[in-house]
This record gives sequence, C-alpha cells and structure tokens, in this order.
Amino acid sequence: MQYSEKVLDHFQHPRNVGEIPDASGVGMVGNAKCGDIMQMFLKINDDEIVEDVKFKTFGCGAAIATSSMATEMIKGKPLSEAEKLTNEAVVEALEGLPPVKIHCSVLAQEAVQAAIADYRAKKQQKEEAAKTE
Ligand code: FES
Repeated sequence: MQYSEKVLDHFQHPRNVGEIPDASGVGMVGNAKCGDIMQMFLKINDDEIVEDVKFKTFGCGAAIATSSMATEMIKGKPLSEAEKLTNEAVVEALEGLPPVKIHCSVLAQEAVQAAIADYRAKKQQKEEAAKTE
C-alpha cells in the first residue's frame, strides 16, 4: 500500500488537533466496520465564517490525515463553502488514497457536516428561545 507524501505529512504532523471548548458546533461520527471515531469542533462567527476548527480522531492514519486536511480546507472559509466540502476534494488535496482507505475520507466529510448540522440546530434553538422571551 502506497501513501502520498501529503498523506504521510498530515498523518505525522496533523494540523488543528484538539478541541474548541466554546465551539459553535460539534460533530462526532464513526464507522461501525473499522470502529474509528472522529470529532470535529467549529467556531463560527456572526458572519458565518469558520473562524476556527479543531479535530480529534481516534482512528487509522488515513482518518487522521483526511481530518487534518479537511480542517485546513475549511478554516477561514464561509460556512456555505465549508458545507460543500466533499471527501473527493479531500482525497485530491492529499494526492490520493488507496481504495480501501476512501471510507476514512468519507468520515472526515461526515464529521464536518455533523458539526455544521449541530451549529444550525443550536442556532435555531437560540432563535426560538429569543422569540418566546
Ligand atoms: Fe476506518 Fe480509516 S480504517 S477510518
């Protein structure tokens, strides 16, 4: 199995690892087959820009590399762009992944989407709470 330099770099030096304590949205996803788990934290400002993003991945090297690359690709971007991030784009940015590791990149895409969904749900809750005040 051959990994690109980029994959090895992001695996050995993952970017944006950690947690955001006051995150606007948190997503956690897992793959039942391999048992890997990914957590994504987003800090989204009032202009709906992804101000900060951090991740924690309990999983294989490709899962770490894809989540690291995914955070780099959405950091500083408008939410509307971040939510369009696809696993194919992450794989391309990493200069490819072996076929058996494609599902790891799917996990990264799903983690970003889950965090965005959590942000939207929280925002809606806040708006509804404000209405009833
Ligand atoms: Fe399952 Fe990589 S082996 S996420």
